[in-house]
Amino acid sequence: MNPEKKGVFPPARVLGIETSCDETAAAVLENGRCLLSSVVASQMDVHARYGGVFPEVASRQHIRTIYSVIEQALLQAHISLSDLDAVAVTRGPGLAGSLVVGMNAAKGLVLGRGLPLVGVNHIEGHIYSAWVYPAEAGSPPPEPVFPLLALLVSGGHTELILIREHLQYERLGATLDDAAGEAFDKVARILGLPYPGGPSIQKAASEGNPRAFNFPRARLEGSWDFSFSGLKTAVLRTVRALQDEHQAVPVADLAASFQAAVVDVLYQKTMKAADQYRVKEILIGGGVSANRALRETFLGQESYRVHIPPLSLCTDNAAMIAAAGYYRYALGQRDPLDLDVLPTWPLS
Ligand SMILES: Nc1ncnc2c1ncn2[C@@H]1O[C@H](COP(=O)(O)OP(=O)(O)OP(=O)(O)O)[C@@H](O)[C@H]1O
Ligand SMILES: [Mg+2]
Repeated sequence: MNPEKKGVFPPARVLGIETSCDETAAAVLENGRCLLSSVVASQMDVHARYGGVFPEVASRQHIRTIYSVIEQALLQAHISLSDLDAVAVTRGPGLAGSLVVGMNAAKGLVLGRGLPLVGVNHIEGHIYSAWVYPAEAGSPPPEPVFPLLALLVSGGHTELILIREHLQYERLGATLDDAAGEAFDKVARILGLPYPGGPSIQKAASEGNPRAFNFPRARLEGSWDFSFSGLKTAVLRTVRALQDEHQAVPVADLAASFQAAVVDVLYQKTMKAADQYRVKEILIGGGVSANRALRETFLGQESYRVHIPPLSLCTDNAAMIAAAGYYRYALGQRDPLDLDVLPTWPLS
């Protein structure tokens, strides 16, 4: 990429393609922010019977739906392939067999149309969902201002990332064990709630008392890392103890108390890091940023402007890939046609 180009952001329409896990998605984005279309074909129902994502099934589903998803995205944006300036695709991290489907579809399009190919990190995509706004909104909401602190909370990641400039990341901390979303999913299973766990816990928690159980908060003082496995084990132990005593399991209270502990740790640590690194704003991304309690907690404070994507852009989507892809394209990234997928690919 060409650092000389910093700050030069040309008009461009980017098609984003995302197939890193169990969502087949395509989106068209204008100038890095304005969303013309976003299509997400979720495989959630297919995987629900396994209680999690079944990799082989996921890649087969992607193959079935990818071309119609791309076609829908172009149709809904009222444009054709010849109106595009670049194709951005998730290169990793994710399931190898799933990533390959999106990558091959992207390569087919760029080869046929002579368009630039831009590979994007999925986690970077979650961060860039904060830049996206729907075309119907008319005027754009304020753009995130650097230096920024990003809290990335998803099914596979929990990270605090300092962003001083576009595409420049310094990872301050990460989870030492379970990701926040993974903890929601595992605790939901312990409580007998359906997959995916995040929305199930949120729903159950809305009827419960967040102070009913005082679950541990792993603060890991002196580091920006997180740990959620102790909290998950505490919920498991509490449920087992109640069952051993033949007592009813108060699912709503347990869900609310667990959720409160997760939100508390995420909030306290993020605010502390924001103060220490003197950032201007905070950004939250990833599936767990859809959590109502988390959103209300961050939006309820007045020290920092907090950017949280609309619900439709919290979990996996292609608009975020197109957004990150736009900034990479604008800064000169052009990837070769033999670009490979990277199932493991740390952001910084
Ligand atoms: N309302 C919610 N409250 C809490 N967690 C939620 C909510 N909605 C979704 N989640 C969680 O978000 C996760 C999915 O998010 P996402 O799609 O970003 O993860 P992923 O793509 O599987 O992982 P990664 O982005 O790390 O590769 C799941 O763990 C899910 O339980
Ligand atoms: Mg994701």
